[in-house]
Amino acid sequence: MTYVAEPGRYKDMIYRRTGKSGLKLSAISLGLWHNFGHVDQLENSRNIVRFAFDSGITHFDLANNYGPPPGSAEENFGTILKHDFAAYRDEMIISSKAGYTMWDGPYGDWGSKKYLVSSLDQSLKRMGLDYVDIFYHHRPDPETPLEETMAALDLIVRQGKALYVGISNYRAPEAAKAIALLKEMGTPCLIHQPKYSMFERWVEGGLLDLLAEEGVGCIPFSPLAQGLLTNKYLHGIPEDSRVAKSHGFLQKEQLTPERLQQIQALNEIAIVRGQTLAQMALSWILRDKRITSVLVGASRPEQLADSIKCLDRLSFAPEELSIIEKILR
Ligand SMILES: NC(=O)c1ccc[n+]([C@@H]2O[C@H](COP(=O)([O-])OP(=O)(O)OC[C@H]3O[C@@H](n4cnc5c(N)ncnc54)[C@H](OP(=O)(O)O)[C@@H]3O)[C@@H](O)[C@H]2O)c1
Repeated sequence: MTYVAEPGRYKDMIYRRTGKSGLKLSAISLGLWHNFGHVDQLENSRNIVRFAFDSGITHFDLANNYGPPPGSAEENFGTILKHDFAAYRDEMIISSKAGYTMWDGPYGDWGSKKYLVSSLDQSLKRMGLDYVDIFYHHRPDPETPLEETMAALDLIVRQGKALYVGISNYRAPEAAKAIALLKEMGTPCLIHQPKYSMFERWVEGGLLDLLAEEGVGCIPFSPLAQGLLTNKYLHGIPEDSRVAKSHGFLQKEQLTPERLQQIQALNEIAIVRGQTLAQMALSWILRDKRITSVLVGASRPEQLADSIKCLDRLSFAPEELSIIEKILR
């Protein structure tokens, strides 16, 4: 059946400005790292994207290597776009990235101009798009001069293949250099995509301050610690979970007894707040106004429905924050 988007989709979503740019993003964005590859059910992937869009989520995040196999998430997303979203392209912010291993030989990895430009060309073909809204350098490259990598991002924007550019996994000092180079070239860095959750807090040691000072947005990835910060592992490892999947990036070893104790204690606080643990973990990140959006994953639409409800309660009492700190210490 032809998909028609929910008419009231923009009513309940919150949209935040990305740094000092003209672009607003939905406070919840959907990532297609897992659950969108050729190993997954296309119909389920399609239902997740439809549900997201119907809920006011405008931002969909991909990368050249998402799958498995690498490239297949972009291919599947291209199929979904063609069938369901052709009429809605201008209501969507679609991103892709290059920086991790994508193809054999010296040009399919890291940060050379050769790799970034050809990888984006491939991504556009896979998704059937003329341009992406945001193109990221996926991780810093210790060998390629940063000037070359940033010049490649600038070129890509000038070629019209991306509207904005961003960086991901850059620590504060290298992010500062990248932001300065892009500014000089006249293509401002729109956004930074770091890993950030209650269990992974390195961004608090300088990166968030830098981004706020420079007017660059911030979109944390894996805000649910790949599912650990939800109620799904409270009573063991479900068969359909990321930990149980052979191609998942979350390993059983990460679910230590100490971790599980923290998860249980956090879950108690969430219940008192009237939230699920997933909702509380997302509210906890979004309470900081320097955060533009949280980039969640979902293996089914119901999870997204649950996560989105975090927006009903973004504030925390000081006592709640201090109890959470004690648990996380
Ligand atoms: N820039 C980078 O280097 C980088 C790296 C990693 C990710 N990312 C981006 O960030 C996105 C999100 O990463 P992520 O998938 O790790 O995010 P996440 O939101 O931390 O974890 C998502 C997983 O948590 C579980 N889940 C989600 N909502 C739930 C809920 N309400 N209740 C119970 N379980 C729930 C699901 O796992 P199950 O499958 O077990 O159900 C889901 O697949 C990626 O898709 C990608 O776009 C970027």
